[in-house]
Amino acid sequence: MKRILVTSALPYANGSIHLGQLAGCYLPADIYTRYQRLMGRDVLHICGTDEHGVPITLRAEEEKITPREIVDRFYTDIRRSLEAFGIHYDNFSRTSLPLHHKIAQDFFLKLYQKGYLVPKNQTQFYCTYDKRFLADRYIEGSCPYCKAEGARGDQCENCGKWLEPTKLIQPKCKICGRTPELRETRHWFFQLDKVQKELEEWMRRKTTWKENVLRFSEGWFREGLTERSITRDIDWGVPVPLPEAKEKVIYVWFEALIGYISATVEWAEKKGDPNAWRPYWFDPETQLVHFIGKDNIVFHAIVWPGMLLAHGDYILPSEIPANEFLTIKGEKFSTSRNLAVWLPDVLKTFEPDLFRYALTINSPEKRDADFSWEDFQKRNNTELADILGNFVNRTLSFTHQYLDGKVPEPSDFSEEDQKILKKLERLPKEVGGLLEKFEAKRALKAVMKITKEANRHFDSREPWRTRKGDPADCRTALFVSLQVIEVLSRVLDPFLPFTSKKIQQTFSNGKRVHQPLRWEGDSQLEHGRPLGKPEILFPKLEDEIIQIQVEKLYGRPQPAPKGEIMEEISIDEFKKLDLRVAEVLKAEQAEGTKNLIRLQIKVGEEERQIVAGIAQWYSPEEIIGKRIIVLANLKPAVIRGFESKGMLLAAQDDSELSIVVLDKPLKSGAKVS
Ligand code: MF3
Ligand code: ZN
Repeated sequence: MKRILVTSALPYANGSIHLGQLAGCYLPADIYTRYQRLMGRDVLHICGTDEHGVPITLRAEEEKITPREIVDRFYTDIRRSLEAFGIHYDNFSRTSLPLHHKIAQDFFLKLYQKGYLVPKNQTQFYCTYDKRFLADRYIEGSCPYCKAEGARGDQCENCGKWLEPTKLIQPKCKICGRTPELRETRHWFFQLDKVQKELEEWMRRKTTWKENVLRFSEGWFREGLTERSITRDIDWGVPVPLPEAKEKVIYVWFEALIGYISATVEWAEKKGDPNAWRPYWFDPETQLVHFIGKDNIVFHAIVWPGMLLAHGDYILPSEIPANEFLTIKGEKFSTSRNLAVWLPDVLKTFEPDLFRYALTINSPEKRDADFSWEDFQKRNNTELADILGNFVNRTLSFTHQYLDGKVPEPSDFSEEDQKILKKLERLPKEVGGLLEKFEAKRALKAVMKITKEANRHFDSREPWRTRKGDPADCRTALFVSLQVIEVLSRVLDPFLPFTSKKIQQTFSNGKRVHQPLRWEGDSQLEHGRPLGKPEILFPKLEDEIIQIQVEKLYGRPQPAPKGEIMEEISIDEFKKLDLRVAEVLKAEQAEGTKNLIRLQIKVGEEERQIVAGIAQWYSPEEIIGKRIIVLANLKPAVIRGFESKGMLLAAQDDSELSIVVLDKPLKSGAKVS
């Protein structure tokens, strides 16, 4: 393997990135690339934003601004938050660049000239109210395969199938909700069926690929590949480079994939060596590795290799590591329902390494994995803080307190010392081997395992006791612990780059242990080297901080931590709460949510809407007509897309939730104090 080109799926520039996407491909790709870099390999990591297509125009229409404004906003937002999470790219490009338009059009023309693209008249949904053809996500209906509702014109998110819009059951226009009619239009079709045989042969050699990718592709081959329309009647995108189709654009997926090539070309141009991209795309000794989430499998394992085969000049993907989904407390992340944890949000409160850890140790590598704030807290407190942080901290503190803050000189290693040193020697190879097989979860577990052992080693060597009775033995034990930390700081770099850097700085004191940092090799922490002061690497996360995040997500205060009564407040503080009696006029399940009820209430003469996370305990009918207590002067909030002006009071224990109601029927608006 001469060189490696790593890509991560180009995110749509129509919203921020959430934890599900981070765990799906951006983080695994970064871990892999960092490792390869430390191994000294020639590796390039490229990405960029996917800036065309209906996902963008829909959002622009919702906000009544131009697609250009949308993509400019989210290009910056996405780029910044990935960077803040330590996801490093050699180039982070965008598909709206003229350079990309040119490359995508050339690609299109080449396939056209080779006879792979043919025009056909086709009937397509047209909304007579909005006066337009409904491409892709402009149309929704039930999936013809799995029957799930809310399938889009081009893809069903539920089963992952690539759809022909005319096959949707009960199609509706996404803009006005009306039923569209069929009209004739002309489109260009990519004859994927022509490359099926070649594709199958190519895929047959990919015996080590992940189950999910192979199974998915087999299904497609079995059904038989069919031609697909790759042009659209919308006005935001890469124009079709044919005089007879000036008003049409290339289907977003068809050109976005070519974005991997454009991003590499741009990288070369930026570094002033315009041909430098060529070997990455032409030399068969390049490993082309596409990190994606499972909803992108069909495009990367079938359509893209099909396009590359039809084109003929480029290499094909070597690996397509596709992760399964991250769920959030059992539910699917959903941008439209705002059930998600957004990167820019969490960056305000937490260190990125905490997420890099939690999302890797519980990565959806082989099956779906679940994220919850409670699990996040527990992993930080009991794994990062108690194991890794504690080990580093106690070792360094001891060294500063009793050994002059310098790496001590060892004498004879005990049997235990030798055992752990031996394991340490094997660690980089073991972790690296797993990373090369895209098993970051197991790799990180191996790192944590040796950290745990090193902690136990520290305990059993009892340096606080030998310090007086057998100082040479004490020095030896600490020497071993410090060697462990030095190796840890290297093998942790792909996973926890910020933490790894902090530890290395403690060791460096002007002079790095390894220069440049490298993956393999024994620790060379020579005795006498002065060490920096320890700092707390992972402060414990208190319940209150986690509670705030949970409330953001679910729209109601979760039960307060049991037991202790909270800190005292004054009567004046209490008086700030404007609690009122309110009458429930209407109640209904908030659309698209499982746990929210949307209430229309009357407070005195005023009517307003509140939403409450109580659907698990009450049906809407049970609440209508009730007189409840609301906090009327709570700052309005938008919860999962629903405006809420106030909050109803409810009490909750381990198993039940009860709305607070009145003993006597007072007038609505009455003050509670
Ligand atoms: N924008 C797509 C998504 O977010 C992924 C595109 S990957 C590409 O699902 F290669 F086509 F760019
Ligand atoms: Zn489906």
